[in-house]
Amino acid sequence: MAVNCRMPPNTQCSLSAPITTPTRLHDKLVIMDHLSFFERYPIVSANQSGLSVFYDELPLWSSSFVPELLERAPISQNATIVDLGCGTGFLSIEIAQRCGPNSKVFAIDPWPIANERLRAKLDFIGIENVEVIQKNGIDTGLDAASVDLIVSNLGINNFEEPDRVLRECHRIAKPGACLQMTTNLVGNMKEFYAELNELLRDRNREDLVERVSKHVAHRGTSESVEQLIDQAGFRIVHSSANNFQMHFSDGSALFGHWFIRLAFLPDWMSLFPTADIEWIFSSLEDRLNTRAKESGRFSVTIPVAYFEALRNSDPHLP
Ligand SMILES: C[S@@+](CC[C@H](N)C(=O)[O-])C[C@H]1O[C@@H](n2cnc3c(N)ncnc32)[C@H](O)[C@@H]1O
Repeated sequence: MAVNCRMPPNTQCSLSAPITTPTRLHDKLVIMDHLSFFERYPIVSANQSGLSVFYDELPLWSSSFVPELLERAPISQNATIVDLGCGTGFLSIEIAQRCGPNSKVFAIDPWPIANERLRAKLDFIGIENVEVIQKNGIDTGLDAASVDLIVSNLGINNFEEPDRVLRECHRIAKPGACLQMTTNLVGNMKEFYAELNELLRDRNREDLVERVSKHVAHRGTSESVEQLIDQAGFRIVHSSANNFQMHFSDGSALFGHWFIRLAFLPDWMSLFPTADIEWIFSSLEDRLNTRAKESGRFSVTIPVAYFEALRNSDPHLP
């Protein structure tokens, strides 16, 4: 059986020892030279206590946006990195490990529960080069011109004041530093909003259609996001926009999905007066179920946009 071992230097690592403590990959760097390969890089056991809590908790949603960012990330040693709007921190953890222990990742997010979760994961895995900072991105508290790389997966579409956050990015970034951001765009779940608007129009509620339109428009377009980044003092060097589809067996499956209820339903409900919520959503569920019966499933389009920019060398804003 594969096991962890965490032993004092010069002790033989037994590959059949029982597992008792979490692996700490970067423990005691100073004595690393004296350790065998397997002492420096202990195997992680699939039976490790606690693994079931921390393994594979990342929602498919967040991971769907990140492949291009990771593929193009300027991974290097001794880098200072910020993960802005890090959430529960899968990207912070990934980049910290890829860059190695001589790099430092500041994982910034004002959401206390996510901070707590990330700290627990860091502790469990034994990662010491990530510092969790519970702060709003408009004021990170980091030194000016101190950061080599800023990453943000699905951050900018969630920041209340994206322009201010981007100006803070400019302040903390070294001249020439890289900014990598992903977001979804206007057009997110357009099939859902089309059904919703049709329902509201059928019931002569143009007043509510207007609210939906405003909500849909709050997401950026590729051009508007590029403009925000540019205005904050970064030069776009690469961008891309693609789509993927999420399929649901019907409307009930969509509304029952845990992540939809966490990340979307509260916003959708907040669009309407309390007195209208029940009829709107139960009628919409019926409508989506009917659509799904006709076509076998209900699918929504998810636009994925990636932006890469370099901080202008001029220390002041353009
Ligand atoms: C969709 S989540 C993405 C989380 C993470 N990057 C991921 O890919 O899983 C958006 C995150 O942005 C955070 N956020 C919202 N406003 C913020 C702000 N002003 N500054 C920093 N983070 C913010 C939220 O708390 C949330 O964790």
